[in-house]
Amino acid sequence: MYTEKVIAEFTNPEYVGEIADADGVGEVENPGCGDIMRISLKVEGDRIVDARFKTFGCAAAIASSSMATRMIRGMTLSEAWNLSNADVVDALGGLPEPKVHCSLLARGAIRAAINDYRTRRGLPPLEAGPAGCCEGTKPDNG
Ligand code: FES
Repeated sequence: MYTEKVIAEFTNPEYVGEIADADGVGEVENPGCGDIMRISLKVEGDRIVDARFKTFGCAAAIASSSMATRMIRGMTLSEAWNLSNADVVDALGGLPEPKVHCSLLARGAIRAAINDYRTRRGLPPLEAGPAGCCEGTKPDNG
């Protein structure tokens, strides 16, 4: 049912936890199942130098958040904002169709963390939109 990469990220997540002095923190909840994902970021310039997650949820949500934090480390805020759930699913080698929606939590948490980062600096939050839309929306290097 799950790929080896999904099982590896679920059973041995490398970046689980929380950054004590995070520059931005985002938390989202899937209203359907109640699963919660929290991602914290450390930013230098416009680049993410550390990303950690805490996920109360299913195996697919945990694997997605683990892979997403792995992927956005080293990305610019713009690149991380534009990371799609399809990018995360591809990096995991796929998810069973009924579990693809779980990967949307990771994108939502990343965008919420970026908007928290922006708000802390007096910048307006970007329109994150409902899950599944807003591909291509870019932050203005805030
Ligand atoms: Fe809730 Fe996967 S079932 S996020």
